[in-house]
Amino acid sequence: MKSSPAVSVFGGKAADSATRRWISPLLFLTVIALSFTLLYRTTTPAVLFPPASLRVELSPPVAVRWPVDSAVASDPLPSSSPRPVQNGPVQKAQRSEARSDGMALLLLQESQDVRLERVLRAAATGDNTVILTSLNAFWSTPGSVLDLFLESFRVGNGTSELLNHLVIVAVDDKAYERCLAVHDHCFDLKTEGVDFSGEKVFNTPEYLDMMWARLDFLRVVLEKGYSFIFSDVDIMWFRNPLPFFYPDGDFQISCDNFLGDPTDLKNWPNNGFNYVKSNNRSIEFYKYWYSSRARYPGVHEQNVLNIIKYHQHVREIGVRIRFLNTKHFGGFCEPSRDLNKVCTMHANCCIGLQRKISDLRTMLDDWKKFMSLPPDIRILSHYSWSVPQSCRYIINPQFDH
Ligand SMILES: *[C@@H]1O[C@H](CO)[C@@H](O)[C@H](O)[C@H]1NC(C)=O
Ligand SMILES: *[C@@H]1O[C@H](CO)[C@@H](O)[C@H](O)[C@H]1NC(C)=O
Repeated sequence: MKSSPAVSVFGGKAADSATRRWISPLLFLTVIALSFTLLYRTTTPAVLFPPASLRVELSPPVAVRWPVDSAVASDPLPSSSPRPVQNGPVQKAQRSEARSDGMALLLLQESQDVRLERVLRAAATGDNTVILTSLNAFWSTPGSVLDLFLESFRVGNGTSELLNHLVIVAVDDKAYERCLAVHDHCFDLKTEGVDFSGEKVFNTPEYLDMMWARLDFLRVVLEKGYSFIFSDVDIMWFRNPLPFFYPDGDFQISCDNFLGDPTDLKNWPNNGFNYVKSNNRSIEFYKYWYSSRARYPGVHEQNVLNIIKYHQHVREIGVRIRFLNTKHFGGFCEPSRDLNKVCTMHANCCIGLQRKISDLRTMLDDWKKFMSLPPDIRILSHYSWSVPQSCRYIINPQFDH
């Protein structure tokens, strides 16, 4: 962490007894200054959020605020709010402000919660599994990635019926409108005061907020008892992935680079695609993962995963982490070369929307040609992808999601 001016002023003079009187007010100011420094690190430099976002940022779990458990929803104030204390006019004013804030937040939460349950119930399979993707306006314009994503389900082998279980989580109004126009199961995830509609430049503060908000949302889905397959929208689905998951994994994740052993923690995961069973271990794991944001400020959720996967606490939780083979779950970093085996292909290791769209379209064309071959030739042919073309082949997987 960068040292702030307040810290260095404090550091040098602590021993001087004349300044000792100043220590506790200074300490207080330092804490305030530090919180603002942290706040600014997450809201600058790219685009400043409207002031409303400050409220989102200031309280510990950042971004979307869900009731921690259902008991909170029936409490007139969130349980973390200070209890009313009869005091002077200042406290009274603060209290009523806090109360109306709390009430507004609660209404937002409750309606969101009810809507989420309805959408999940409608889309879930018999064993309470849903497919989830998240969408913002930038990815959803006509002819954009969303259309290619949906098309892949229609041309994939045995994937069109999976659309009945796909919930598109729209993070802004435009994406929600677009979803309603093209798909049955849409959920509008409101994050107070935060605009997620533009292109999110990798690793900017906005991008990080979006990724962490998504992680917290997925924890809520698990807590509601739904297992999920989460897929980025720039992943093409060619076969049903369910038969290819490991039977003994709680948390299964795709890889930019797969080293050959599904339990080897050194595999380099890509959080754009994962399958998570809803159980106590996975829920604890998501909570721990989300809470780790504070320990690694400025690091995105995928890299935090790469750190915490080795943590003793994760071992204690007992969550069974499995890495998915790129033979079935590939991407531009490491393609699934055999079209007879591919399930999904991710436009990872690729920066720039136009490049992605161009190569995704080519990928769909490759697939359609493959499917149109006579079966005997299809099986024997070593037909493979003609992509990546536009997408620069980037060896360092840190560059993309
Ligand atoms: C599509 O799926 C069916 C049923 O699983 C299978 O018989 C067929 O060979 C598959 N086609 C391709 C191209 O994989
Ligand atoms: C999770 O833990 C709680 C309390 O320990 C237990 O009652 C519940 O059955 C567990 N649920 C699952 C899915 O294991």
